[in-house]
Amino acid sequence: MSLVTTTEMFKKAYDGGYAVGAFNVNNMEIVQGITEAAGELKSPVILQVSKGARAYANHTYLVKLVEAAVIENPEIPIALHLDHGDTFELCKSCIDGGFTSVMIDASSKSFEDNIALTKQVVEYAHDHGVVVEAELGTLAGIEDEVVVESGKEAYTRPEEVEEFVSRTGCDSLAIAIGTSHGAYKFTAAQCTRNEEGILVPPPLRFDVLEECIKRLPGFPIVLHGSSSVPQEFVKMVNEYGGNMPDAVGIPEEQLRKAATLAVCKINIDSDIRLAMTGNIRKYFAEHPDHFDPRQYLKPARQAVKDMVAHKIKYVLGSDGKA
Ligand code: G3H
Ligand code: 13P
Ligand code: ZN
Repeated sequence: MSLVTTTEMFKKAYDGGYAVGAFNVNNMEIVQGITEAAGELKSPVILQVSKGARAYANHTYLVKLVEAAVIENPEIPIALHLDHGDTFELCKSCIDGGFTSVMIDASSKSFEDNIALTKQVVEYAHDHGVVVEAELGTLAGIEDEVVVESGKEAYTRPEEVEEFVSRTGCDSLAIAIGTSHGAYKFTAAQCTRNEEGILVPPPLRFDVLEECIKRLPGFPIVLHGSSSVPQEFVKMVNEYGGNMPDAVGIPEEQLRKAATLAVCKINIDSDIRLAMTGNIRKYFAEHPDHFDPRQYLKPARQAVKDMVAHKIKYVLGSDGKA
């Protein structure tokens, strides 16, 4: 199988009540960890590349790594997606350069400017067989290098989604219902604490999601900022010399529920970073004399694989859906 668009994936996910994981890739170990898990579990998967990933690893290297993963995992559909494209030129460069899906994130612009830029990208993408994700609403955290403080996010306005989708022709829509980018998704003031002193975030706004679904029946919805920030990794980081107090994510049960509704794509990046960093810190602490990168990148890659397998089985529900 060669790289695919998300069209078929999303149709099956919508009808089947599951979501496809969209995992950010920045290097070979991450690509391998994700796709080995998806391959073994016969799950569709989206590999996504941010502007920052392209700047770090180079477009060609990332495309070739993903193409290698496609060759190594011929039984599963894999899409290559641009995450948070912020200009027409960036989207065009990815469309021309082998991506099968792009996101144009003009969510920080006015409604009319968001429509105009999204439409421009959709026209070019569709002419080249590529699909487009757009966004309405603003998540807290960092998007397009714009830092949105927790508490200053704006939920998607359901009354705008129909007009936005029909005027832009986009293929999927990212909405803001209370998820947030990064490992510090909520301030302590926004949360309660459980018996162990761990922050418990405010619940996602399923009422906003339901309203959007009513207005866009059958249309694939995307959730960004959907890492769960597993406390086992936070603990590991802190135990082995790191300092990540009060890192908190989206509870898995809420993501599972979203996946059974119209949410067809769930974005995960921070959990990959945490899995790798926790395990590398542990490895260094336990083997201070080792200096071969393969020694510590091997458990880091395995941790990414195990984490992704867990998401596929228990959060996304996409195992066996390839
Ligand atoms: O939503 C943002 C993603 O986590 C990508 O982050 O721009 O640091 O690569 P990045
Ligand atoms: P997390 O920071 O929650 O992993 O979100 C990633 C994301 O939305 C990428 O677009
Ligand atoms: Zn995002």
